[in-house]
Formats: sequence, C-alpha cells, structure tokens
Amino acid sequence: MKGLRDQVVLITGATSGIGRGCALSLARAGALIVATGRNEDRGRETVRQVEALGGRCLFLPLDVTRQTDWQRAVTNVLAKWGRIDHLVNNAGDAIVKPIAELSREDLQFLLRVDLEGPLLGMQAVWPCLKSAGGGAIVNMSSVAGQVGISGATAYGLAKGAQTGLTRSAAALGRPDGIRVNSLHPGLIWTEGVTDVLGDDVESYRPMLLANIPLGRFGTPQNIGDTVRYLLSPEAAGISGIEFNVDGGQTAR
Ligand code: NAI
Repeated sequence: MKGLRDQVVLITGATSGIGRGCALSLARAGALIVATGRNEDRGRETVRQVEALGGRCLFLPLDVTRQTDWQRAVTNVLAKWGRIDHLVNNAGDAIVKPIAELSREDLQFLLRVDLEGPLLGMQAVWPCLKSAGGGAIVNMSSVAGQVGISGATAYGLAKGAQTGLTRSAAALGRPDGIRVNSLHPGLIWTEGVTDVLGDDVESYRPMLLANIPLGRFGTPQNIGDTVRYLLSPEAAGISGIEFNVDGGQTAR
C-alpha cells in the first residue's frame, strides 16, 4: 500500500489558515504540495514554510470559482509533476447575517465559493485521480453545515449542500478508486474567523470557548493532520462520511 510520499496533493486556499496548515501537515508526510490561491505573496509564504520543512511545493494562482483557472492549474501541475493524486477543496468564505438581512447577492456569492468551487475542482481533477489509479478528495465543510448556528444562514446552507455533493461524489468514485469525504471543523482561530467577527473579535472569545467541551479552539495543524489521515492509505475504508474535528461541539 503506497503512502503519501511523493503523492501530488492540490490544495485550494492554501495561502492562509487551514489551507496552509494542510500544506504543512502533508509536506511532513512527504507529499508534493500544489498550494493554490489568489494571493501570490501569501502563496510564496506557504512555499517558503513547506520548503523550511524540507518539503516541495509549487504555488499556482487559482480562483476556485473560475473554470479556466482550474484548467490552467491542472495543465501546469501535469507539466511539472505528471500527476495529481489527491484534492483538498479547502477555499471558502463566510457571511454571518440574520435571514432578514441576507441579500440574494450574499447567497449567490457563498454558493459560488463554497459549493460551485468544490464542484469545479472535482470536475477538473477527477480524470487525473482516475488515471493515477485512484485517490482521495477532502471537502472542507463546517459544523455550520450540520447544526444550526445563529447567523450562519447562507453559510450553513452552502456547507450543508456541499455535504450532499460529497456523498454523491463518494458513490460515483467507488469504481474509480476515488474516496471523497467532508471534514467539519469547529472553531479554528484563523484570519477567516477574525475577519467575520470584526473589530470586537476578542470579546467573543470567552463565549465561543464556553461552547466547546474540550475547552480549546482547534488549530490549522489539527485540521491538516486530519486531512493527512483522510488522504492516507490508513483511511482506505473511509468514503462518503462527515468527519468532525470540533472539540466535541456537536456531541449529542
Ligand atoms: P481563511 O480565510 O484563512 O482561508 C480561506 C481561504 O480561502 C483564504 O486563503 C481565501 O483567500 C481562500 N478563498 C476564498 N475564496 C476563494 C476563491 N474564490 N478562490 C480561491 N481561494 C479563495 O479561513 P480558514 O479558517 O482557514 O478557512 C478555510 C476553510 O475552512 C474554509 O472553507 C472555511 O469555511 C472552513 N472552516 C473554517 C472554520 C474556522 O473556524 N476557521 C470552521 C469551519 C470551516
């Protein structure tokens, strides 16, 4: 059974937070990292951090909502490394507003980034995974796609719909040896979170921590290490599931 060493993994939104955490965890396992994103300077910082671990990393510009970006990225990876073995659909965005304040533009924006983006990604890399003899895909969902979180209306809708996409892709992937799972982080203190919470971000900390049974926020490395497991041969029997890394937040 082959491990992740020299396996090519494409990660979206790898220019910050959880995406960068995934790049570093996978690099520690010896994978070849394709870090994609919209900000070249931040992408180069991810490359620098991977190389500091002794890993190999290629940065490619990629807006997940643009089909032409996906095609160009896949062409470039194949030219450089000849294969793509795994995909981490990490890029995402969030808007927190009550239903009454949510605009159609807000909804359409989130559906494009959090739902259509992962779909375009799967469409673009599926033939590569198939011709590599199988592989794995992780879609970065959220606990907001599973349980009600006040204000996370459109975000919860988009992430919940992403889980439906994950399940049908897992069923489709069986004959091609492609496993597809969704990962549901709880609160991971990244720029994505601090941007959404705004100027009063620090005042929310105690209230948010009180809702987490383990009493701590997760880290990008916690999520990266879980992605590493889900892509690895150790997870060969796992497909179509919702994998939570949420400090017990959704324990029932
Ligand atoms: P972040 O804001 O640091 O990372 C999101 C990344 O996605 C950024 O690099 C951003 O530039 C990129 N991105 C957004 N739209 C894009 C587009 N159209 N094309 C390409 N890249 C795009 O936030 P974080 O926390 O690292 O989030 C990563 C993923 O984890 C997201 O999908 C988010 O919804 C999910 N998540 C995060 C949680 C948290 O507590 N931080 C909890 C649950 C899920």
